[in-house]
Amino acid sequence: MTEILVAPSILSADFAYMGEAVKNLKKWGADWVHCDVMDGKFVPNITFGMPMVKALRKETDMTLDVHLMIDSPETYIPRFIEAGADVVTFHAETCAKVGETLDYIRAQGKKAGLVLNPDVEVDTIIPYAHKVDVVMLMGVFPGFGGQKFITSVLDKINKLKEISNGKFLIELDGGVTVSNVKEMVERGVDVVVAGSSVFGAPDPAQAVRDIKNCLH
Ligand code: DX5
Ligand code: ZN
Repeated sequence: MTEILVAPSILSADFAYMGEAVKNLKKWGADWVHCDVMDGKFVPNITFGMPMVKALRKETDMTLDVHLMIDSPETYIPRFIEAGADVVTFHAETCAKVGETLDYIRAQGKKAGLVLNPDVEVDTIIPYAHKVDVVMLMGVFPGFGGQKFITSVLDKINKLKEISNGKFLIELDGGVTVSNVKEMVERGVDVVVAGSSVFGAPDPAQAVRDIKNCLH
């Protein structure tokens, strides 16, 4: 059985201690660091941009999973890659040149991915299925951490699994908890983002372990 990757979102960490947060993530046994970039236009919230990714790059050798919730991501992607992003995902509806942008990310030696909001059909990724390394399903409408998982997204995992046929990773972002992660993984999720359920846990290392061991 392949290992489940856990990507805690630093959106739920203390912004005054981000260096410490990523060092803790490594100690806790997490795999990727999920970086939520929001522009206040595509989503109703503003977080951080390239300088944060650059600063984190200096503090950790973990995979930086950069989730772009911004308009025209193609304008900024070269700078996120230069800053140290390893995985770059964006929402197709924000980008005028989806295929070209995915190709560009891969040509830089990085993993490229598309993100599907809860109300976006899984089939929309079919034209790009051969250009992605990861497809991320949102379990909530993006903008904020700590929201409740929308259970109708579960069926999308099965549909996406059929399309992927093992050719790209399936990531799930938003509302993941120690209690609901098992069903997601059983249906085919490879990478889970967990913000509040890791950083807000009384014992975050235990939360990471519980998520990784959810099938046992
Ligand atoms: C939502 C973000 C998510 C979020 C996850 O807009 O893209 O990555 O931070 O947080 P939790 O795990 O608390 O739902
Ligand atoms: Zn995210």
